[in-house]
Amino acid sequence: MCPLQTSRLFQRSETTMAQERFFILFPLLVLVLLVLGCVQVSLAKESQAEKFQRQHMDPDTSTVTASYCNEMMKRRNMTVGQCKPVNTFIHEPLPDVQVICFQGNVTCKNGKPNCHQSSSKMRITDCRLKKGSKYPKCDYQTQQLQKSIIVACECVQYETVDFDGSV
Ligand SMILES: *[C@@H]1O[C@H](CO)[C@@H](O)[C@H](O)[C@H]1NC(C)=O
Ligand SMILES: *[C@@H]1O[C@H](CO)[C@@H](O)[C@H](O)[C@H]1NC(C)=O
Repeated sequence: MCPLQTSRLFQRSETTMAQERFFILFPLLVLVLLVLGCVQVSLAKESQAEKFQRQHMDPDTSTVTASYCNEMMKRRNMTVGQCKPVNTFIHEPLPDVQVICFQGNVTCKNGKPNCHQSSSKMRITDCRLKKGSKYPKCDYQTQQLQKSIIVACECVQYETVDFDGSV
């Protein structure tokens, strides 16, 4: 009798332990899967800083032709689904643009405080959709300018994440 009871007791506590293990490990597994999913999603989706570079950085172009905006807006995927109405390209090295995050604080157009104005003028090209231009035929007006620019920065790594304007 006695050994049997002991063994039953043992078995029961084994089951409880297995159940406990399940209840501890299962949420942990779910968590791990969620984290893996998030990492994959963030790997697949371009970051704000990457998007800024795709949409606004073109350091290697010095001479801009009349068809520049039509070509570049297409090449940089801003004519997918619709024609992005206004966009500015910056023809300065990336570090010169990133350093703006340490220059004059200004309020962004959307009211946020994380915008910064470049202390020096920069070579930029404004692309503006021509009146009457209809998707999918995105026809832009190209205008070369030399102006101070305003960008939004993320405090984490001081990355330029948004183009706010030029003054
Ligand atoms: C534009 O989109 C295509 C298709 O999604 C992609 O292969 C390409 O790398 C994109 N180009 C840029 C500059 O992001
Ligand atoms: C200055 O900019 C930083 C970083 O972009 C921002 O976090 C901070 O709120 C701004 N400070 C002021 C006084 O606007």
